[in-house]
Amino acid sequence: MAVKTIEWRSDSVRMIDQRLLPTREVVRTYRDYKGVADAIRTMVVRGAPAIGVAAAMGVALGIKGFAGKRAETRFNTVAKALRATRPTAVNLAWALERMERVLKENLSLDPAHLFRRMREEALAIYREDIEANRALGRFGAELLPDPCTVLTHCNAGALATAGYGTALGIVRAARESGRKVSVYADETRPFLQGSRLTAWELRKDRIPVTVIADNMAATVLRGGRVNCVIVGTDRTAANGDVANKIGTYPLAVMAHRHGVPFYVAAPLSSIDLECPSGERIPIEERSPREIAEFAGKQVTPKGVNIFNPAFDVTPAELVTAIITERGVAYPPYGESLRALKERA
Ligand code: MRU
Repeated sequence: MAVKTIEWRSDSVRMIDQRLLPTREVVRTYRDYKGVADAIRTMVVRGAPAIGVAAAMGVALGIKGFAGKRAETRFNTVAKALRATRPTAVNLAWALERMERVLKENLSLDPAHLFRRMREEALAIYREDIEANRALGRFGAELLPDPCTVLTHCNAGALATAGYGTALGIVRAARESGRKVSVYADETRPFLQGSRLTAWELRKDRIPVTVIADNMAATVLRGGRVNCVIVGTDRTAANGDVANKIGTYPLAVMAHRHGVPFYVAAPLSSIDLECPSGERIPIEERSPREIAEFAGKQVTPKGVNIFNPAFDVTPAELVTAIITERGVAYPPYGESLRALKERA
């Protein structure tokens, strides 16, 4: 893809402002960790792997000029600010833990060398994410018939990752392997990641895409218009319960009702073996304004109660397979996910 989601350039972090897509392509530059934390919180950058990469780059920026004990104290401040941005995607905590390990191993370095080492690690997380997406894309593509039409929810594409995408990575890999593939994209209320972002990036890649409002998915499934559903995940628990964008769970229920396979594209960085089941996954609640307003216009009576959970949990029993960069996990997920994640 011509447009980069996130990029490290001249010791600053550049991100396309996803809030403005599809009508405006504005790239923002951040030179300190506070700016990066703000960008994650306000959804300039979003999608579990992308916010993991952003957090790692934020730590590198934050640690610049520090060494030894002072670097450790500084890390705690920086990590606290980044961790507080969004709670559901485990990639963020995963990236912070990885950066902390590298910091602790290199506390004896002088500030310039420590900064270089931390920057190197953030860039490794960036590169590995793209490699993981390409690998899981190839595994996933093998599951698809030819021709194939995929229904997806939210945006688990290049914009949600360092590049290529997870759910959309499978679509891209299928196309690269010569298959004919098209996509139905749920609009994804209230933030419209499907209609704004998924449609935007698929169109850029000339992959046929049809946008539907979320409440049309049952009609699409019952009409036999799609061969499978593929979604991403913010955190998948050890038992295979899947947290993803709000509206994923009803989609899984509907896919089950209509006998359509429901696949989850999950890089290992989004699988949390420490979390036994979906009940323990923290679900972010976002501002009521996301529901109360549409395109800047008030669409609910002022003062009405609003509930705005950003994610839901799909129980493992509704998930046909979980596709990772090391292969495809099938039920029982308690065993298959552990085997994949712990394989060296
Ligand atoms: O609130 P968002 O836009 O960050 O939510 C994103 C999703 O739910 C994605 O499906 C998930 O992060 C996987 S992205 C590869």
